[in-house]
Amino acid sequence: MDSIWIRGGKTLKGEIPISGAKNAALTLLPCALLTEEKLTLTNLPRLADVDTFAHLLNQLGVSTHVAGVKKGEIGRRMTLQADEIVSTVAPYDMVRKMRASVLVLGPMLARMGESTVSLPGGCAIGDRPIDLHLKALEAMGAEIELAAGYVKAVAPKGRLDGGDFSFPVVSVGATENAVMAAVLAKGKTQLFNAAREPEIVDLCNLLVAMGAKIEGIGSGHLIIEGVEGLHGATYEVMPDRIEAGSYACAAGITGGSLHLLGVRPEEMLATTNVLAQAGLAIEFTDKGMKVSAHQPLRPVAVSTAPFPGFATDMQAQLMAMLCVAEGQSFLEETIFENRYMHVPELRRMGADVEVHGRSAIVHGPKPLTGASVMATDLRASMSLVLAGLAAEGETEVLRVYHLDRGYERLEEKLSAVGATIERRSAG
Ligand code: EPZ
Repeated sequence: MDSIWIRGGKTLKGEIPISGAKNAALTLLPCALLTEEKLTLTNLPRLADVDTFAHLLNQLGVSTHVAGVKKGEIGRRMTLQADEIVSTVAPYDMVRKMRASVLVLGPMLARMGESTVSLPGGCAIGDRPIDLHLKALEAMGAEIELAAGYVKAVAPKGRLDGGDFSFPVVSVGATENAVMAAVLAKGKTQLFNAAREPEIVDLCNLLVAMGAKIEGIGSGHLIIEGVEGLHGATYEVMPDRIEAGSYACAAGITGGSLHLLGVRPEEMLATTNVLAQAGLAIEFTDKGMKVSAHQPLRPVAVSTAPFPGFATDMQAQLMAMLCVAEGQSFLEETIFENRYMHVPELRRMGADVEVHGRSAIVHGPKPLTGASVMATDLRASMSLVLAGLAAEGETEVLRVYHLDRGYERLEEKLSAVGATIERRSAG
């Protein structure tokens, strides 16, 4: 099992190209199910989760072809075609590896009139039910059956009917499944309190490019007029705002200056506001965003929230950076019930963090020292990498497969800006 080895203490300076967004790619890929025509996605990140999702689609009968990387492009170009669905079942062995597999539920139901998906079960950061996915589909006339760890959704008339649904809790995945189901339903669907994450805007923009009729894109009130069919499209995956935010924290924790290429300012504002409060200099350029730490970091108080609030996916990375800020910082994790799994490992590196339920207090500045550490989820792993970049001595982050799910060419990108970091095979 590979690990990432870091010798800390280097100040990072230079440019980092930001890859296509994992959480956009994972909702754009299943859109291939909505048409018999070819869907080409460009700027796809080279990530384990993208490969896992493509493999799942292959099992359902979707052909996928990855073209070589063209000069000047950093992402992959994948052409998908679902001209012959051979199965409507997303099996347990696939879903347990990647819970985002549940995003085939809505589009498969819309295309085939039925879809069966293994229940994803919980994960390290929380129980993560899919009840809202199912309620939204029921609002469109789907009949839902739960049996033997699977959920089966059926459109009794072969085609869903448009319907209204108000989400009691903002849910990214449930909004995505509902939108992908509604675009082929008969009639109008209105979604209230829908998630507004940029990844959902990317999904809606792709669906419109495929011929869908969606109003209110970017708002919490989506109005979808179902159509008879969708056609193919070619679409570029948006840049990864969480990857960019993670590397911005790398600039902060090492006292460096990084130019993050390809990010979109309007998708970064909650993160940049917090980083600016912490004392980082943020400059949006025509190539992306420059983040520089010219002074000691200041403490901040932040609660995670659905977009446009501060992203829960940035909480662990920010916490690592705040370990070296001068004072007490306060974090509140409002989205997931167990997203402080990085804390015990940060403590082993010298961090002084108190956790009380969903709140955490970070006492800084504390000198961090290198250690062998491991994490249980993607963002917790990145938090440990960031701590290792600033720590005195050597850090080895184990279970690097977590990182490979969400950070493309991590060690390459960080080495290029001065980090002493390498991937080590454990044999
Ligand atoms: C997406 O997960 C992201 N994953 C997560 O990123 C991200 O943390 C999360 O949105 C919040 O922004 C992908 O896009 C692939 P939710 P998702 O449904 O859709 C509760 C990463 O690190 N809920 O918005 O699963 C749920 O338990 C990953 O890249 C229900 O109660 O998140 C949570 O408390 C981690 N019932 C809250 O809503 C449901 O049916 C938000 O979850 C669905 C969700």
